Amino acid sequence: MAGSPFDLDDSTAYQRWRDLKLAEAPSSVDELIVEVRDPRALSAAEHAELMARVRRCNMVIYASAMLDEDTDIPRRLGEQFGLCRLDANWLAGEDGISEIRVFDDGTQKHYIPYTDRPIKWHTDGYYNSPEWQIRGMVLHCVRRAKSGGENRLMDHEMAYLLLREESPEHTHALMQADVMVIPERVDEKDGVRPAQAGPVFSLDKGGNLHMRYTARTRSIAWKQDAATQAAVAALERLLNQESTPHVFQAQLEPGMGLLCNNVLHDRAAFSDDPVWPRLLYRARYLDRIG
Ligand SMILES: [Fe+2]
Repeated sequence: MAGSPFDLDDSTAYQRWRDLKLAEAPSSVDELIVEVRDPRALSAAEHAELMARVRRCNMVIYASAMLDEDTDIPRRLGEQFGLCRLDANWLAGEDGISEIRVFDDGTQKHYIPYTDRPIKWHTDGYYNSPEWQIRGMVLHCVRRAKSGGENRLMDHEMAYLLLREESPEHTHALMQADVMVIPERVDEKDGVRPAQAGPVFSLDKGGNLHMRYTARTRSIAWKQDAATQAAVAALERLLNQESTPHVFQAQLEPGMGLLCNNVLHDRAAFSDDPVWPRLLYRARYLDRIG
């Protein structure tokens, strides 16, 4: 794509984008938070404030006093940003929005999101087929854990930038179509899912950067060449630095939520108050925030 900052042969376009990206980057999590009255029906000013954050760093955290247990909150928030095509995950509720909470029984308890365990750095749906990539997401907090459960967040475009600054070879390696393979696996409901090979970084039809990634080491196979190994190690270093201005840590309180273009994130382990257990709604979309 001519003039794309993500074209390794166009360093002028890249440097212009890089300089603007670094100049506009938030320097603390507070800059990501926007107070809103009702996420289901934002005012024009609130919408503009949220959109401005998303343009800068692909994410924003809204904070409201909306404490209802109602999946309409994330759904209607998403709709206001062009997020309409929900990923109908078979574990999701009937309306396509998942309750992220601890399940003590059923199929869910076998999947880490539905436990109180930590989740390593990833983007959502990294195991999906290329035609079914998750581009947008809303994570809305109804109840927080008694302790723990924070999310770390990193703009995937910033990860690309920092890797390319370290070496363009890293970004080149991570754009290979066969760099990351999710092996064939068997699901209780879907049966055998074929192996999924794909890039870490790719461009959508509009030229936007998309990222597939997991820091898990089980159920994933990286290409074995030296360039890939070096790039994956560099990305791990980036995400696990003790202090970096580009990784944000957020505790979503009741009424708060994350709206993002499927940025990198993780989750700390948590412990629940038994009468008031953590509950988040997660809506995943095939759409990107317009
Ligand atoms: Fe996630």
